[in-house]
Amino acid sequence: MNRIPLIIDCDPGTDDALCIMLLGASSKYAIKGITAVHGNVSLQHTAENALFLSHYYGIDCPVYRGAQQAMIVRNERAAYVHGGNGLADYEYSTEGLSCAEGYAWDFLYRSAREYAGELEILACGPLTNLAITILKHPDFASLVHRLVIMGGAAHSGNTSPLAEFNFQQDPHAVQVVLQAGFSDVTIVDLDCCNSAWLNPEEQKTMAALPAHNRIHGLLAQIMAHKVISDANITRVHGERFGRDRAARMVVCDAVAAAVAVDPALAQYRDVYMLCETEGTQTAGQSVIDRLGLSGKTNVRLAMNMDRDRYAALFMNSLKHYEEA
Ligand code: RIB
Ligand code: CA
Repeated sequence: MNRIPLIIDCDPGTDDALCIMLLGASSKYAIKGITAVHGNVSLQHTAENALFLSHYYGIDCPVYRGAQQAMIVRNERAAYVHGGNGLADYEYSTEGLSCAEGYAWDFLYRSAREYAGELEILACGPLTNLAITILKHPDFASLVHRLVIMGGAAHSGNTSPLAEFNFQQDPHAVQVVLQAGFSDVTIVDLDCCNSAWLNPEEQKTMAALPAHNRIHGLLAQIMAHKVISDANITRVHGERFGRDRAARMVVCDAVAAAVAVDPALAQYRDVYMLCETEGTQTAGQSVIDRLGLSGKTNVRLAMNMDRDRYAALFMNSLKHYEEA
């Protein structure tokens, strides 16, 4: 079966790392590149982390640097969740490795032309790279077959009562993407992510992969750091936010990866979505036209994940990295 060309646009980020792990294990895709964007931590860290992860997972593809800041706003990063280096403070070396020459937006456009009508993109960070590509190359959206975005929040946010982190980091970029005319956009928002978690048993397996699994070191570090991350989230956002994080580990970007790999894991509703850019209390909010007043739709909103099938896909992906 011919693999589908895929580019992952991300801000690693511990959940981005698990997203790339899942996609790297999938026989559905040929990962043609990883493009790094500012977000959880600075571009310097997200690009270095992406470079390390592609090598660590054995994904033979170029890594490109993208935008180091949002188009207009400047918001807090999320090192309190992902660790100072963005990867649970896991220590690694990228000696002998380097990012590809050039910028993410030019690589995204070159790839869209090379794989016209076939290219899929999974975006799980702020959408600044995609927005720049669209503004620089107006035919970009028409060349992309499918775009899966982890972002937005149909109901409650995570970095504010109404805004999800990726959308809040660059709401203007979200507006550019949502109005660019992509023919197939799936939004995996926070509500969808919260319907697909990993239970304590699955978390224990992740924390203690066998030594012959070549990613056991990073997974053990991510799981050990989760205790710090959960405590920080509760400190920053309050007890209610973090009350069941130990019982239910929600890995947002991995949920988006699973939806990309197996769309049947979720249910969908076609809606018209925009992103608030100006409100002092609402910037980054996903604005969904639930009544259809606009008379049009622009995205397919994923929801109601099959948790057990998602977890099975996630745990099976880990086995891909076992060595004889
Ligand atoms: O809100 C969750 C999203 O924001 C994830 O993509 C996480 O990595 C951060 O980028
Ligand atoms: Ca991310």
